Amino acid sequence: MIKIKAFAKINLVLDLLAKRPDGYHELRSVMQSVSCADLVTIKKSGLPGIKLLTNKEITARPEDNLAYRAALLFFSKIKEPAPAVEITIEKNIPLAAGLAGGSADCAAVIAGLNKLFAAKLSGLDLEEIASSLGSDISFCLYGGTMLAEGRGEKLTALPFAGKFYGLLLKPPFPVSTAKVYGAVPRQLRPCCYNNIPEIYFKESKKLEQLAANCRNDLYEYAREIEPRIDIFLKKVQKTNPAVCQMSGSGPTIFAFYFSEKERNEALSVLEKEEVYAIETVKEGLEFSIF
Ligand code: C5P
Repeated sequence: MIKIKAFAKINLVLDLLAKRPDGYHELRSVMQSVSCADLVTIKKSGLPGIKLLTNKEITARPEDNLAYRAALLFFSKIKEPAPAVEITIEKNIPLAAGLAGGSADCAAVIAGLNKLFAAKLSGLDLEEIASSLGSDISFCLYGGTMLAEGRGEKLTALPFAGKFYGLLLKPPFPVSTAKVYGAVPRQLRPCCYNNIPEIYFKESKKLEQLAANCRNDLYEYAREIEPRIDIFLKKVQKTNPAVCQMSGSGPTIFAFYFSEKERNEALSVLEKEEVYAIETVKEGLEFSIF
């Protein structure tokens, strides 16, 4: 049996570069893993088939779940004709929130099956399965701090952003990623930024340096779809964070503070909201093998 903590991601930087002919968007993003995590347990089973259990209904049919589809692809890649496995996902990462929760579970299944079945698929093989299922899954296989390009699947490792104390606030409504990207005009502003800020390539960073270099182009489009996001952003801003920004396509807001104490004070101010204490972490997946 293998248990995997699958960490959520936030986008410290998300620059939209162009709309692509395939409907996706060319982007450049600094992605960061944070300690809010789903718990994925994978067991070999006596019964044939892939059984998927979750504590929250994610999709009406398990077969539509990304994690299930990842398992199918994995077994076809290793040419296993009769898989017998039980996958349990304990969801803690909010759904449709801009935190890549579904992608993290999917990455956990791909990498977890590779270990449990000692299949020895290479990192590239795993990335191939990951990128065929979604844009953020490859990042979740590695995690930490990474530069993501293309539609999000082309990765370069960056020095760890640093250990910071923060929180996530999930507003009480979901936002569809496809709808937010759908609101991006065909003609994007002529290139907004030349490059990722220098600071991300340096080894040690102060929180104030990070704070001056966070941005998210999707924010204005997410607000068009769901103007209430602003209300929640302002609530978090009132707690005086060093950094406060929407993650991915939203609606979750992340914030970082100068100390654990300040973060804890902010958590108590925001206690009526759906809030999660987080820290930045250095990997996307954490394995325990039994
Ligand atoms: O790849 P994934 O399934 O996570 O993406 C969800 C949706 O987000 C896509 O169907 C697409 O509409 C949009 N998207 C995009 N450009 C990206 C990533 C996602 O347009 N780089």
